[in-house]
Amino acid sequence: MCGIVGAVSTRNVVPMLIEGLSRLEYRGYDSSGIALISQSATQPCLERIRVAGRVADLAQKAQHASGLIGIAHTRWATHGAPTEANAHPHLGGDNVMVVHNGIIENFAELKAELIECGFAFSSDTDTEVIAHLIAYELSKAPDFLSAVQEAIRQLKGAFAIGVLNINSPQQVICARQGSPLVIGLGFQESFFASDIAALLPLTQKMIYLEEGDLALLNGQAIQIWDSKNTLVERPIRMLDVCSDSAELGPYRHYMQKEIFEQPVALANTLNQALAAGFAPTLFGEDAAAIFTTATAIRIIACGSSYHAGLVARYWIEAYTGMPVSVDIASEYRYSQGLEQRGTLIIAISQSGETADLLAAIRNAKERGEVKILALCNVAHSTLTREADLSLLTQAGLEIGVASTKAFTTQLAALYVLAGSLANARQTLSEAQLLELANWLPRLPAMISAVLSQESEMENWAQALTHFEHALYLGRNTLFPIALEGALKLKEIAYIHAEGYAAGELKHGPLALVDEDMPIIVCAANDSLFEKLMSNLREVEARGGQIYLIAEPGCEAALPYVKSALILPISTGPLAPIVFSIPLQLLAYHTAHRKGTDVDKPRNLAKSVTVE
Ligand code: F6R
Repeated sequence: MCGIVGAVSTRNVVPMLIEGLSRLEYRGYDSSGIALISQSATQPCLERIRVAGRVADLAQKAQHASGLIGIAHTRWATHGAPTEANAHPHLGGDNVMVVHNGIIENFAELKAELIECGFAFSSDTDTEVIAHLIAYELSKAPDFLSAVQEAIRQLKGAFAIGVLNINSPQQVICARQGSPLVIGLGFQESFFASDIAALLPLTQKMIYLEEGDLALLNGQAIQIWDSKNTLVERPIRMLDVCSDSAELGPYRHYMQKEIFEQPVALANTLNQALAAGFAPTLFGEDAAAIFTTATAIRIIACGSSYHAGLVARYWIEAYTGMPVSVDIASEYRYSQGLEQRGTLIIAISQSGETADLLAAIRNAKERGEVKILALCNVAHSTLTREADLSLLTQAGLEIGVASTKAFTTQLAALYVLAGSLANARQTLSEAQLLELANWLPRLPAMISAVLSQESEMENWAQALTHFEHALYLGRNTLFPIALEGALKLKEIAYIHAEGYAAGELKHGPLALVDEDMPIIVCAANDSLFEKLMSNLREVEARGGQIYLIAEPGCEAALPYVKSALILPISTGPLAPIVFSIPLQLLAYHTAHRKGTDVDKPRNLAKSVTVE
């Protein structure tokens, strides 16, 4: 999705803006641009450089540009093709430049009115409407601030914007409503961006803007107004995210790096939980009371986070006996009728900014007396701020578009949540809770052991690149992992793949099975293994090529398979976390062999902040 960076400083901001944009490349984009109030002329003038291409091309084109104040943008096309004319920043009148993330829903009406007032449009974007609207308001308003406030009042939709005005050459304004924006504080300089990743080399001192906030930055001072145009103070937070986390190091791709970071990411996520046992307080002061009185659980998420939610249903139902439903956020956000009173909504999101999920929890709050528990990897995200309870996963910055360490840390946190719910509701004995807890300290080493089997997945990848389709099968908690394995292969290797509950095979997909259909099967050595064996026989009898990933103890399946990876350890209830690893490696190596853009797969964005 689109990215915004802005800076005001006593030094040339161009290198900071370009570096910031390159750190946002992972979010997905198709064009880029920068606008400055240039210092070279006898009087300040607006300078704009745009390319229908990569940030590296923009850097080349902007190498001689210089200014002490500027805004920059990577665009992921929504309104209009990815051309230079549609790239941001957009010029309003002859005095305003705007960058924008999000979608303006009433842009067509506003555009018609502005055309009537004599404004000429040179792009197909909704953003140009904002730029002209601010220019129009500037012609009537007493100052820059009131003009932007008045323009924003007329906008419907979700947005984050950055605005330059040639007549206020020391000031830049940014504002958010529905799309994230963070301000960074430096010495005699300040910055803003849609994602902290852009600012990490510049500062660790951040202010997270709230919904409806507008900030005026002039290098020396920052003033913030809320949605009612009241001057407000927002807390300054010191981050402990290191800018090195955005470095690739010895790895070929961020996805590969992030796969191998999982033992540490999981250890960091479990740190607090291990110290606290399954103490509900991990999720917030009121968690014990909310956990005890909750009448039902509803999990809401998108994509991989939704798959994590599907796994959690098995754990929570087994350990607490509570009814659990799992919904896709883009569907749930439009549900009608009352939400059951006392429902605990578990909202799972790596970014905490996914538009569908935010809309879904707001919808839930409107439809019933519910409590929201957020599981998120980003501190101070919109999701965590709007939730009653939260737990932060400690995956660190995830840059590869395909979720890996964010997904497995979500699973680890959900396992802790299931244990904590059981603890609060006393549905398991002390001994049973201890048995569940005892698996956790072993997890990082279990993941490292499976990562050491990477070469086997490289071999499988060699075979997989020749197929156009694949089926993934699993049972119980490994069924959602089959869905997740298939999603990974689709999104980065562009191979059509479907995940199925193994028992569902003969209800339809068995018709697809022949020698051209590789079938990746996840087998746990549990009470359902015999059932899975029947499914393997069904596939083998039809010439299907089975690639088996199995726990020790599943060797009886070997005669039916083309190739097998026997994991080096037993995985117990943590099977879904451990089995995710070979599936991530398989997708990664298949994509790498096919030569796709592994970290930035086509048409996808890291954080989906628009509907
Ligand atoms: C897939 C992937 C996406 C995200 C989904 C939700 O690899 O990363 O499916 O899981 O877009 O994003 P978050 O978790 O940020 O809400």
